[in-house]
Amino acid sequence: MGNNIKSMIIGTGVAIPEKTLTNADLEKMVDTSDEWIRERSGIKVRHVLDEKMHNSDLSAEAAKNALCEANMKPEELDTIIVATVTGDVTFPSTACYVQQKIGAVNAAAFDVQATCSGFIFALNVADGLIASGKSKNVLIIGTEILTRITDWKDRATCVLFGDASGAAVLAPSNGNGSGVLGTFIKTNGNLAHLLLMPGGGTRYPYDVAVNENLNNIKMQGQEVFKAAVTAMGDAATHILEKTGLTPDDVDLLIPHQANIRIINATMKRLKLPKEKVYINIHDYGNTSSASIPVAFNEAKEKGILKPGDLCLMVAFGGGFTWGSAVIRV
Ligand code: ACO
Repeated sequence: MGNNIKSMIIGTGVAIPEKTLTNADLEKMVDTSDEWIRERSGIKVRHVLDEKMHNSDLSAEAAKNALCEANMKPEELDTIIVATVTGDVTFPSTACYVQQKIGAVNAAAFDVQATCSGFIFALNVADGLIASGKSKNVLIIGTEILTRITDWKDRATCVLFGDASGAAVLAPSNGNGSGVLGTFIKTNGNLAHLLLMPGGGTRYPYDVAVNENLNNIKMQGQEVFKAAVTAMGDAATHILEKTGLTPDDVDLLIPHQANIRIINATMKRLKLPKEKVYINIHDYGNTSSASIPVAFNEAKEKGILKPGDLCLMVAFGGGFTWGSAVIRV
């Protein structure tokens, strides 16, 4: 059993690729329209990482920004967790490259792979490590380079995804009430077939994956949509109950940004007014594990999320995975 130390986020940072891909650009690539994409998903633009750069480059940039805000040196970190499904290579973990790039010489580094719920899964692990006293200063990063595993001929998926990175530094709480009040994660492997990239592992050897076009995202959109709406609502209500809170206590909901209609359904289920829900999907598309830390950082920067506010984070993704967290900022 642990000593139950509370963890808190002491710094956040992001890295957003400069290059953008608009709906008008996509109209030239597949049979789609700006109107369809905006109405069915809420997306207007997404970012694309320069082809010379890798996940770990973007992750390291976000990490440096988070460390700067946390006023912490890289060598003070003891753990680095990168949440991603689009790492630099199959192994080692992208976190190893990040460790090297930021000079975090005293940190153990590993990845977690929980698709769009990745940041919440990483947060859950980081909080547990700090609560048990096994780690003190933990860097978690959600980064995806989804544009590199997108099937640019499949209009049902290629309009949805983008690249980004968001990082957070966690440390033991200073006792002023701020911190991670609770986290929740859940998985249902029965739904794994709804959303996956089949190639890239050992099930389909490289030549088979290339021949059968398996090295990209395969998604049964409508089925994922239905499961997502249920999972988001369940994850939100579960963590609020577990922490003895109600939707009224929430100052800002930060939902995973996959589809504006999924966000609206979650908002309705929790009976939250739209002023209490952070939405930036129009600017980024679905950046999977990066979406929540990018939104969290942005909400803080804009002054929408202020010290003392209660923030509820909710995510779902392929696996099927889902999860939530309640944070006193
Ligand atoms: N442009 C124009 N038409 C399109 C496009 C497009 N880009 N994509 C699909 N359509 C067409 C379809 O072919 C279909 O046409 P039909 O009626 O003639 O057959 C019609 O639009 C409706 O298609 P649906 O699939 O029913 O559209 P839907 O309203 O369900 O929206 C979407 C599709 C946006 C993919 C939605 O299902 C969705 O968001 N699903 C969830 C995706 C998600 O959240 N994934 C999350 C995790 S990602 C991760 O973990 C990496």
